[in-house]
Amino acid sequence: MKLLVVGGGGREHAIIKKLKENTAVDVIYALPGNGGMMDDAVCVDIKATDIEGIKAFAVEKQVDYVVVAPDDPLVLGCVDALREAGIPAFGPDKKAAIIEGSKVFSKNLMKKYGIPTAAYEVFDDAEKALEYVKTAPLPTVVKADGLALGKGVVIAMTREEAEEAVISAMKDKKFGASGDQIVIEEFLEGPEVSVLAFTDGKAMVPMVSSMDHKRAHDNDEGLNTGGMGTIAPNPYYTEDIAERCMQEIFLPTMNAMNAESRTFKGCLYFGLMITKDGPKVIEYNCRFGDPETQVVLPLLQSDLLTIMQAVTEERLSEVPVEFSKDAAACVIMASDGYPASYEKGFEITIPDAMKAHVYVAGASFKDGKLLTNGGRVLGVTAVEKDLRSAIKASYDMVSEIHFDNAYYRHDIGAKALKVLEG
Ligand code: AMP
Ligand code: GLY
Repeated sequence: MKLLVVGGGGREHAIIKKLKENTAVDVIYALPGNGGMMDDAVCVDIKATDIEGIKAFAVEKQVDYVVVAPDDPLVLGCVDALREAGIPAFGPDKKAAIIEGSKVFSKNLMKKYGIPTAAYEVFDDAEKALEYVKTAPLPTVVKADGLALGKGVVIAMTREEAEEAVISAMKDKKFGASGDQIVIEEFLEGPEVSVLAFTDGKAMVPMVSSMDHKRAHDNDEGLNTGGMGTIAPNPYYTEDIAERCMQEIFLPTMNAMNAESRTFKGCLYFGLMITKDGPKVIEYNCRFGDPETQVVLPLLQSDLLTIMQAVTEERLSEVPVEFSKDAAACVIMASDGYPASYEKGFEITIPDAMKAHVYVAGASFKDGKLLTNGGRVLGVTAVEKDLRSAIKASYDMVSEIHFDNAYYRHDIGAKALKVLEG
């Protein structure tokens, strides 16, 4: 079989490595992929947002199945375009991807169907929003409506910060049209849990839970990033909480999307906060999380391609989706300075023996050398019997990998260990 994966980061590398476990797979094209994936995929320099280019390539190569991993091509309708060309693809169509593409849509959906989330107001007028933040309870959370490369959320501790966030999104257009509307919402408190779930609109099958570490520096200090590391399973996600999430959030979301004629087929990502009033939705993503995928898929024991095809064909309930009881930890090795400015082009050395566990997020391959080429460079994952061992094994690998200017957090999983071990 010929597969194609749209995207080029660590998440895509993890998906590709898992897909390759199926012996029917002959080749996987990655569009655009990156220089660190070349042992696992044929990388082709077509951008993930070039929908026509992706479609033309898939048709030309007679690709059997496509996985669209990132948010922007999904929101742009990549799966719809491939379907028109008769090529089956994993991921929601444009109508369903709006659950991530518009925060106004997702908040209104939750309100309409009684799905627990932070209280909120929507604004399309900057003056009204500025008026509102004069009296809103602090801290307050200001969110751009549309996609903003993970930077569209500001937790404002003061009125000045809230005003600044409104002005930068609505007046200065920092996120372009994504800031035409904003959501201002209640600040929630509690541990965060990420749950990725396969769904075909009929069945909802959550994967093992995980915990992201979004801040750049140790002890959750510094700027928000795409994610500096993950662990799975998340100890805050107890069986009781899982059952509540299924009944109060996951199934109601699937049913709500069906009722809106926006059946969601793909991987639905629930960003949850376990508040004192129970689990609430912080955000939906219409795709696998990055770097959640780098700990979740290594624990998947069933065949990923079989599951994905079953999702596309609406027979998810017929295939096994099983996870190991082990624990996984992923430490992101980034370029110092990320998520602000950083230098690129440093040589990366990874001992051959550990390459199976290293997901390459931002690298190029030049003159026989692997070079850093992004903010997040590598995701170093270890799977062990328990979380403590997985964290240790991951950091042991990190210590043997080298590139100049490497930066990583030293406390990935520390909070989770405290919950587990007291
Ligand atoms: P997002 O970009 O939507 O993933 O949001 C980034 C982070 O902001 C989340 O992971 C939360 O830590 C935080 N956040 C978002 N919304 C809220 C909220 N209503 N209350 C508290 N924290 C929030
Ligand atoms: N790690 C968070 C995300 O993928 O959005």
